[in-house]
Amino acid sequence: MKKLWAFALLAAGLALPAQAQEAADSVAPEMASGNTGRQLVTAKKFMVVAANPHASQAGFDVLKAGGNAIDAMVAVQLTLGLVEPQSSGIGGGAFLVYYDAEAGKLTTYDGRETAPASATPELFQNENGEPLKFYDAVVGGLSVGTPGTVKLLYDTHSKLGSLPWADLVAPAIKLATDGFKVSPRLNALITADQERLSRFETTKNYFLPGGTPLPVGHLLKNPEYAATLTAISQNGADGFYSGDIAKSVVDTVQSAKGNPGKLALEDLANYKIKERTAVCAKYRVYEVCGMGPPSSGALTVGQILGQLNSYDLPSMNSGDPNAWRLIGDASRLAFADRGRYMADSDYVPMPTKGLIAPAYLKERGELLSGDKALSKEQVAPGNPTWDHAMLLADDESIELPSTSHFSIVDANGNVVSMTTTIENGFGSRLMTNGFLLNNELTDFSFPTHSDGVPIANRVEPGKRPRSSMSPTIVMKDDKPFVVVGSPGGSRIIGYVATTLVANLDWSMNIQEAISMPHLINRFGTYDLEKGTAAEKLQPALDAMGYKTNIRDLNSGLHGIVITADGLQGGVDPRREGLALGE
Ligand code: GLY
Repeated sequence: MKKLWAFALLAAGLALPAQAQEAADSVAPEMASGNTGRQLVTAKKFMVVAANPHASQAGFDVLKAGGNAIDAMVAVQLTLGLVEPQSSGIGGGAFLVYYDAEAGKLTTYDGRETAPASATPELFQNENGEPLKFYDAVVGGLSVGTPGTVKLLYDTHSKLGSLPWADLVAPAIKLATDGFKVSPRLNALITADQERLSRFETTKNYFLPGGTPLPVGHLLKNPEYAATLTAISQNGADGFYSGDIAKSVVDTVQSAKGNPGKLALEDLANYKIKERTAVCAKYRVYEVCGMGPPSSGALTVGQILGQLNSYDLPSMNSGDPNAWRLIGDASRLAFADRGRYMADSDYVPMPTKGLIAPAYLKERGELLSGDKALSKEQVAPGNPTWDHAMLLADDESIELPSTSHFSIVDANGNVVSMTTTIENGFGSRLMTNGFLLNNELTDFSFPTHSDGVPIANRVEPGKRPRSSMSPTIVMKDDKPFVVVGSPGGSRIIGYVATTLVANLDWSMNIQEAISMPHLINRFGTYDLEKGTAAEKLQPALDAMGYKTNIRDLNSGLHGIVITADGLQGGVDPRREGLALGE
């Protein structure tokens, strides 16, 4: 394992292309947001890129043993739930974008959490009909949706996997039993969240034994997680969705101190994953494909890129303020449509095709033809082609960064692009059987209406909250070309879109594209990544009329490019991930 780590962790300088070097000249050679520099990882046969070295290793071992991408996905996810418990796990949900090489087919699987059958649209309102404060809703049982991840892993493995299920669960059982060293990132996040984690005895005892955060390097064992995985190993998804584990999930939610929730055994028993057609948007010679509703990811990434299609970004570079004006305002226009139209389309009619129709995006893109930032009034939702007469109000749901993304290509060319989450860092903070429970329901809008007009992303029983997760596979000549995704709440969309512009238009390799300093605009304020070359663009963007804000932008982009010569992997230097391949 050491050899493989060394392979991936060779130090590199600030990964900017030559064109942007001028802008970077006076900036420290390493990004202040924790970047230590990463070098492109290459492989000939297969590759896995995930947010934690243990998880990457688990996936690598499966691929090395002849497993396929779906097999590796199971091992990676179950290991992530142990070593990166704050971001994703079996108490949460996930989206899988999958390319089946033999069938030549791209599809998606929706393992998103659902609202309990007894939930009402007013779930996150007080007795006066006022929205709860965000963290009052997050912490406790009210925010917990029916977890989807175990069912997603089990059902897709039953259909598409090649190695025995139990063999894929075994590595995480062993690591939970033997223990793993607490990483600096896990320690820092526990330390920052001590007060909320301490509200629940089980959670406190695991993350703050003796009242202090688990120290870096502490050998952390999780026998309860090992026992849960053993039940799942022996009984498949039933081991999670019925029996003792299901009962204790429901008990934990319904008896949460101060904030009990509504999740019931029937919600777990009735949970189903959904296979859905991939949403693909045209960008230059590529089809950018990903997860459609209930995720806003593929639609919003597709809208941003589709609006940029008419502009010659390849002749610009990553240090050009005008390029960022185009990207920033394309993003603002896309977010205006997202807030108006996007939700779980099984519950709310959506103009899914109209939102990414080339003619519509060309027309929206014409709004970008000036040289100043669009005014607030100009950034309004558009009118995509749609057969429904329906009045919807703009959405107000809040999303904060957590989540994890991994990318896998196997030796037969099958591709997994999976983004997975328990929503907020440490989810609802409720823990049972060795894993944290999600707070995914707070991805719904808390208000149900605005001025009497209904909001598409309001809570409804059984509905899936709108997501920003954007697991992506870019197709070129009908074959997978780029595999990428990121955590980061609603900034995920910008992280993925700008990484694709960097890779597809600015000729950065996938590592350079992922390491490129972030500039992200969702609702008007331009966020510039602190301590990076992005700060140098602040005066120009201010002069164009943007409100700018310098801050940490902690993406977790993990990507693979598939070339005729082999695979190229990129790891986000802002996190602790690793690319491994052979
Ligand atoms: N909870 C993060 C997302 O679904 O976008």
